[in-house]
Amino acid sequence: MKFSRLKLGEKILFGIVVLIFVFAGLSFVMLEVYRSHLDHPMYPTTTHFDFTPEGLHGSELFRDRGCTSCHRAVRNGTNNGVNLDGIGSRRSLDYLLSFLKKPESTYETKTLDHGLNKEAAYVAGLPDADLHAIAVFLSELKATQGSADARLPMPERSGFVDEMVKIWAPSTWKREYHDLRQDAMQPQKK
Ligand code: HEC
Repeated sequence: MKFSRLKLGEKILFGIVVLIFVFAGLSFVMLEVYRSHLDHPMYPTTTHFDFTPEGLHGSELFRDRGCTSCHRAVRNGTNNGVNLDGIGSRRSLDYLLSFLKKPESTYETKTLDHGLNKEAAYVAGLPDADLHAIAVFLSELKATQGSADARLPMPERSGFVDEMVKIWAPSTWKREYHDLRQDAMQPQKK
């Protein structure tokens, strides 16, 4: 179809779509130029690690045993499964070990890939020593407290959060749950 044969409304719509693409392209280029001139990462890094020898060994197994085909950790892998950076701040070593060996009875809800006859079923069958090293590796992937990757909210008291809890949290919550920030006040285990 020739452009000149389009109706006026169609031309305008077409023009808007082209403009959106041009705008997206320009923004991308500008952002990349800005980023390449920064001397610090554009977003703060909220995950960190400091591996013991066993954890380091686990990190090699993590890559060699196919975990990275579904998971991301330490700038490696894909986002098909769960991002595991910072998981050591959300899960204990015991939990991780138990999940790797018996995913279906450990996970709080139905599993998608870990478990009998599922795609990651092989994980539970890996040698115990390998699973232990992998679990140690995962437990050493920490997240900065208060970041989206961490289980605990920021340690300092926030007037904003207090206000939101006061306004929005149903009073039953205050009876049924305790405020995690109270634990967060205590010095953190390293
Ligand atoms: C086929 C894709 C796939 C492979 C391969 C895979 N995983 Fe997973 N993993 C998942 C998915 C999906 C989940 C979320 C739980 C579920 O639905 O199975 C998950 C969850 C996890 C969790 C989080 C558990 C939790 O409760 O937070 C850990 C830890 C984990 N995997 C470790 C591993 C390790 C270690 C390997 C390699 C030995 C591995 N996974 C291989 C897909 C995969």
